[in-house]
Amino acid sequence: MASSTSSVITLNINGEKYTLPVDHRTTLLDALRERLALTGSKKGCDQGQCGACTVLLDGRRAVSCLQLAVAAEGREITTIEGVAEGDQLHPVQQAFLDLDGFQCGYCTPGQICSAIGVIQEHAAGWPSAVTEDVRPEAGPPPLTAEEIRERMSGNLCRCSAYVSIVEAVARAAEAQPDAGRAGLGTEPKEAVA
Ligand code: FES
Ligand code: FES
Repeated sequence: MASSTSSVITLNINGEKYTLPVDHRTTLLDALRERLALTGSKKGCDQGQCGACTVLLDGRRAVSCLQLAVAAEGREITTIEGVAEGDQLHPVQQAFLDLDGFQCGYCTPGQICSAIGVIQEHAAGWPSAVTEDVRPEAGPPPLTAEEIRERMSGNLCRCSAYVSIVEAVARAAEAQPDAGRAGLGTEPKEAVA
């Protein structure tokens, strides 16, 4: 029931539509976890610092703890539950498995969603803070470990599985350069932090 403090919204998550009433202060992360039982996205800090809650909004990385659910209406939301195709793991998921890109696994859903975004952003030619040649005609820089570390720096791992995470992102990007696009929607339009 809509009121001055709540609304009925419809969220498009992993290709499914979910209609629910929400208090306007509800974050997308809380809507996913507490209202829709989509608990793959994790709550670490709840203040945009750790990346555990990372999802894809219209194909771009976003920390869902800093997004209001009402503001996500009309967007294409992809969570970790939606990146595989049936029993076929997403190439980034497979690389994390093959290379032990996790220990406790708490940060892993956010790491994987973020890595999918990284690969897409890199393929689209977006520079990072460590890219030396940022001229548009230079094209995508080599996806070095330094580039991956910088681009994944918004995702913290308390188990410090960083070495394997970097290797997994590199493996997925090499094995399938379009890994970042699988299952996602629109092209990125601008850089995200
Ligand atoms: S829970 Fe969202 S960034 Fe930490
Ligand atoms: S695997 Fe434990 S926090 Fe990253």
